[in-house]
Order: sequence, then structure tokens, then C-alpha cells
Amino acid sequence: MRIVAIANQKGGCGKTTVAINLAACLAREGQRTLIVDLDPQGHCALGLAVPEEQIEVSVASILSTDSSGQQPDLSRVIWQISTNFDLMPSKIDLANLEQALAGVEGREKRLRHSLSTIQNKYDFVIVDTPRPSVF
Ligand SMILES: Nc1ncnc2c1ncn2[C@@H]1O[C@H](COP(=O)(O)OP(=O)(O)OP(=O)(O)O)[C@@H](O)[C@H]1O
Ligand SMILES: [Mg+2]
Repeated sequence: MRIVAIANQKGGCGKTTVAINLAACLAREGQRTLIVDLDPQGHCALGLAVPEEQIEVSVASILSTDSSGQQPDLSRVIWQISTNFDLMPSKIDLANLEQALAGVEGREKRLRHSLSTIQNKYDFVIVDTPRPSVF
């Protein structure tokens, strides 16, 4: 499983557009692809027509749990968009998490740990990142 993060120092420069289209093209080529939205704006779900009000469990739940804790069932978090194309959506609840996790040891490894539990299910994971903080 290969993980590709789409990141840029600038906001509004096309990160989400690239992430969605790259993931869609990979899926169309037969690659089992998961797109992970790490932006609390939730634009991946918006762009892929997943209604925000139907997202009960978001990527924030995954990042809220440390590797020794009980993670939510990933099947409750992941939406199938089309053949070979799944989404782990975010929503606004992700906005508080950066502050909540500040100083928590190992926070930077949580996503990697979570993805390692599903590494046999996907060929590619495309991570859409938020606009960098100005602080
Ligand atoms: N190649 C392109 N040509 C013209 N417009 C584009 C292109 N790529 C993206 N856009 C438009 O630019 C706007 C911003 O794109 P997008 O949301 O993908 O940026 P972003 O980097 O993800 O933004 P944010 O930092 O807010 O997450 C959108 O309206 C999108 O439709
Ligand atoms: Mg974006």
C-alpha cells in the first residue's frame, strides 16, 4: 500500500481537486484506492457528493484514539464512492483536534497506525491535507 499526501504551503491552490481526481483515476485504473480527508472543511465529501449530515463517524474519531485504545470500526468511517474508490471523510469536528492533541505523545503516528490495520485492502491511500496553520 502506497500513501501519497497532497500538501502545499498555500491555501486554495487545488490540493483537494488533485486528491479527488488522482484517487478517481487510480480507482479507474483498477487500483484499490482510499482518499483520507484531513481537512475539517470536509471538501472531499462535498466534492464526492457524500452529505455531511450523514457522516456520523469521521476521521477525527480515528485520530482521537491512541494505538492502545479501541478504535471505531473502520467500516463505520469509510464510505464506498465507486468501484475501487473509498473515502474516509472529515467534518468540522476535526477542527478542535489539533489543539486537543497538542503535546500528546505519538499523535503524529496515529493515522499511520490506523492505516496499517487496513493495508491489505488498498493499493493507494491519497491524503488530502488542510491549508497549513498560520501560527
Ligand atoms: N486546475 C485548476 N484550474 C482552475 N481552477 C481550479 C483548478 N484546480 C482547482 N481549481 C479551483 O480552485 C478552487 C480551490 O481548489 P481546491 O479546493 O482544490 O483547493 P485547496 O488547495 O484544496 O483549498 P484549501 O486550502 O481550502 O483546502 C476550487 O474552486 C477549484 O474548483
Ligand atoms: Mg482542500
